[in-house]
Amino acid sequence: MARLAGKVALITGAGTGIGRQTAELFAREGARVVVADINATTGEETAHRITSAGGQAIALQTDVSEPDSISATITRAVGHFGALHVLHNNAGGSTDVDADVINAPLEEFWRAIKLDLFGTFLGCRFGIPEIIKAGGGAVINMASVVALMGFPGRDCYTAAKGGVASLTRSLAVEYGRQGVRVNAIAPTVTLTDRVVKLLAGNDAMQHLAATHLLGLGQAADMAQAALYLASDEARIVTGVILPVDSGLVTV
Ligand SMILES: NC(=O)c1ccc[n+]([C@@H]2O[C@H](COP(=O)([O-])OP(=O)(O)OC[C@H]3O[C@@H](n4cnc5c(N)ncnc54)[C@H](O)[C@@H]3O)[C@@H](O)[C@H]2O)c1
Repeated sequence: MARLAGKVALITGAGTGIGRQTAELFAREGARVVVADINATTGEETAHRITSAGGQAIALQTDVSEPDSISATITRAVGHFGALHVLHNNAGGSTDVDADVINAPLEEFWRAIKLDLFGTFLGCRFGIPEIIKAGGGAVINMASVVALMGFPGRDCYTAAKGGVASLTRSLAVEYGRQGVRVNAIAPTVTLTDRVVKLLAGNDAMQHLAATHLLGLGQAADMAQAALYLASDEARIVTGVILPVDSGLVTV
């Protein structure tokens, strides 16, 4: 199958974790993939894994929270592959210093806002005009279940991901008539290397994991959701914050 044949997809934070799995899946489905990660080494590794398997990819070192950096990456991506059809603003993540609003370090608030929310805002700012030029396409933002439910103890990250969800809905309305679909994925706990380390020392997170109906998430689960939202099969799906959550939000 080649559900993304002919499409150029840029995925931020694709050097590891969910982003890497998604980049590899998109390439297997026929997309030409731009791996945009702040870590040049892991970004190159992802691109190499794709090209070694017969796919097409380039790695561009990018800091999504710096306007000049993400703008230059999108320009280079379009220069290299000729267009941009899919933008997956995936880079982000929480840390173990996040906490409730009274105790969270103030610098952690701005770190989360700058990476998760501003990074997504900037990706859309520079990516959407290129998707419009290409005749339409898809933006997939990375929210979290924390944007859809009360989730204690991570108030910096929650604020940032709530912003991502709200921004997603507004952009869907603003750009839908120009052929740009804008959706977000809201993953539950997903066992990437980073999260496995976080879980190891955190009782609350381990308790949460035990409450999942169908087990915890894997990066591949999120990659499959992104594939659907990126593909033409989702041609009338926009403004959706899609929980991929083992029933967590419903329970
Ligand atoms: N893993 C989970 O449990 C989970 C749950 C909900 C949401 N999410 C979201 O999914 C996304 C991916 O999470 P993950 O677990 O795969 O994380 P990860 O830490 O494995 O991967 C994140 C990637 O982003 C890159 N990155 C960090 N800062 C960057 C920057 N400024 N510019 C460009 N790239 C940067 C990192 O180098 C890394 O390769 C994040 O937005 C995260 O908030 C993850």
